[in-house]
Amino acid sequence: MSMSKVSLAVLAALSLSSVAFADDKNGLGHKVGLGQPITEADIKPWDITILPDGTNLPPGSGTAAVGAKLFTEKGCIACHGEGGTGGSNGAVITDIPLAGRGIEATKTIKNFWSNSTTVFDFIRRAMPWNAPRTLTDNEVYALTAFILEGNKLIPPGTVMDAKSLPQVKMPNKDGFIIKFPDRI
Ligand code: HEC
Repeated sequence: MSMSKVSLAVLAALSLSSVAFADDKNGLGHKVGLGQPITEADIKPWDITILPDGTNLPPGSGTAAVGAKLFTEKGCIACHGEGGTGGSNGAVITDIPLAGRGIEATKTIKNFWSNSTTVFDFIRRAMPWNAPRTLTDNEVYALTAFILEGNKLIPPGTVMDAKSLPQVKMPNKDGFIIKFPDRI
């Protein structure tokens, strides 16, 4: 194709698209409506990821005493058993050791999870399994406190909030190789 034919083709394409965009209609005269910018308000409900260091933890707080009641009221016991010690689904409170069992080891919150903040993140986004995203932030803090206290990772009565939760050190914290430490 010669230079002039190429530029003609480009010109034709450009002028066609500028017509299409100018009145926001497709070739049949229907409104296209593509490319609406998403607003901050639309993004906010999806922006719930808590980073390992606690970044993005919401305001609110809770204790294990409140969490223990919620664990029954919100139906957690139906799957995780009385006191979280295991039912039709895994135990969230248990002393099963990781060492010495190789790849078959049962991985639990206490023996495996590297960040306490992930307990909050996971409960808030995924539990109860049958009704995710129904818990308030205070309820999630309380349930997190219940699980951490039951696993003897915090002293009895410790209030969990955006400041105290990231300070809870998980036993297997150093058992992971972080590929991009500067990104955490
Ligand atoms: C209908 C059953 C069901 C109910 C009710 C339920 N869970 Fe779960 N839970 C699960 C399943 C299934 C998993 C495993 C999910 C996975 O691995 O993706 C899980 C995993 C978890 C974990 C991660 C455990 C681990 O070691 O990986 C936590 C923490 C947890 N649930 C907390 C709760 C809390 C708190 C409630 C109540 C608000 C609750 N769950 C209610 C089924 C349930």
